[in-house]
Amino acid sequence: MASCVATLHESFGTRATGVIRRATVKDAEAIHALLWTAKDDIPLKDHFSNDIYRGWVREQCRKRNFWIVERDDQLAGAMMMQVDEIRYLVTAAAHRKARFAQALIEHAKEQVRKKYRSGVWAQVKPSNMPIIRLLEKLNFVRDPDRVAPGDWICYCSSEADRIMARH
Ligand SMILES: CC(C)(COP(=O)(O)OP(=O)(O)OC[C@H]1O[C@@H](n2cnc3c(N)ncnc32)[C@H](O)[C@@H]1OP(=O)(O)O)[C@@H](O)C(=O)NCCC(=O)NCCS
Repeated sequence: MASCVATLHESFGTRATGVIRRATVKDAEAIHALLWTAKDDIPLKDHFSNDIYRGWVREQCRKRNFWIVERDDQLAGAMMMQVDEIRYLVTAAAHRKARFAQALIEHAKEQVRKKYRSGVWAQVKPSNMPIIRLLEKLNFVRDPDRVAPGDWICYCSSEADRIMARH
């Protein structure tokens, strides 16, 4: 378990004092509840609140696809990773602007760099300025070539990151 734990580093600023770890099935209910608090922003369909999606979150935890950040043993943020894609990134309202989302994204980049020697990408709604600002702050760039459903748009970690990942 120790290898799954990454204490947030000073580079994220003094506001971040949490711990990132891989979620377990025991975390699934809290992750589902946290995602539901951000249903309008992500956005999530109404049926995400049902037992099928509760089970889906549990299954993703079982498959080790969710990462969480905890502060004082409380769930402060969550993110799902599907191969090289960041999905379902959310931080709890009480823990926003504490660099936890930034830390989760940096963590995803590191995981993908180590495992696939490539950059990461994310699909976002064009109206979701908080996540777009954050991705751009972290040098992600819009990737018009990547196909996304509906009006979703794709952001990839920058060319420089991708070149570094190959070395
Ligand atoms: C998007 C989200 C994950 C950002 O989380 P956070 O914990 O506040 O972000 P961090 O503290 O790590 O990073 C802060 C940076 O994010 C961006 N940001 C966060 N909130 C912002 C806002 N309301 N307006 C503009 N930029 C914002 C800025 O770049 C900010 O950097 P700055 O403080 O230097 O301006 C959070 O707002 C959230 O959970 N939203 C609801 C779920 C969601 O929309 N997820 C994305 C699905 S694709």
